[in-house]
Amino acid sequence: MITQAIIPLAGLGTRMLPLTKAVPKELWPMGSKSILEIILDECFDIGIKNIILVISSEKETIKELFKFKKKINNKIKNKADIFARVKKLEKYGKKIKFVYQNKPKGLGDAVLTCKNLINKSHFLLLLPDDIIVKKNCSKELLHIHKKRKCSVIALRNVKKKQVSRYGIVGFEKKIRMKISKMVEKPSIKKSLSNSAIIGRYILSKKIFKFLSSQNKGSLGEVQITDAINAMIKVEKVFGCKFKGKYLDCGTIDGYIKSFKYYNSI
Ligand code: G1P
Repeated sequence: MITQAIIPLAGLGTRMLPLTKAVPKELWPMGSKSILEIILDECFDIGIKNIILVISSEKETIKELFKFKKKINNKIKNKADIFARVKKLEKYGKKIKFVYQNKPKGLGDAVLTCKNLINKSHFLLLLPDDIIVKKNCSKELLHIHKKRKCSVIALRNVKKKQVSRYGIVGFEKKIRMKISKMVEKPSIKKSLSNSAIIGRYILSKKIFKFLSSQNKGSLGEVQITDAINAMIKVEKVFGCKFKGKYLDCGTIDGYIKSFKYYNSI
């Protein structure tokens, strides 16, 4: 049973500055919901009980979304839809823990800050730059995890010229979708395939051991991809070519396209 999820939110949003100085990108709207609310819905819809949000002192405003605010609630009591949404987020708040990553040392380091809070054999990791609509991607991963009893990573085929934007995986020859290797943001020449990692992972708790001893990698940061690559030697990791539609919210261009698409469905 997977009951815990980690969502790293401590990144400075440099690709979206100066807007992200005032409003963390995870609180930017996608229609009437924020990106964060969409990701949280994905988690709670599959029965996740506890979520760890990794934030930094610059992103304290994220906490406001979940607080009970009497003045606001009194004002919207007769607007049923909005009131229900506000109450839903207050309820989510009770299942959320905040941990701090105050130095931007990378995604791997953000996950490592949660080490002492994970108490089951596997946990879910969701990256908020990636929204997946039409099908719950975490549910698809969960399905494979139940069958294979191992770590599972969401994958999508990308064009050759895009490989340097993603973590890229290579597969074992004999077992379908079993990952043999992975590399973070490779050049076209060093790429293992055109299968890119998209931000949904079910990971074994053993990853923390590998993260603890992981050297800095791509961009001078501790990369989760490098730690998983080390773990692969002792733990099975399978890929999941998910069926939902992927929306890249990690750049301004991607965000604008995603916003338009999200509002057209
Ligand atoms: C992260 C991961 C990368 C993955 C990508 C998906 O990179 O490190 O392996 O392919 O998310 O969005 P980032 O977007 O944080 O640079």
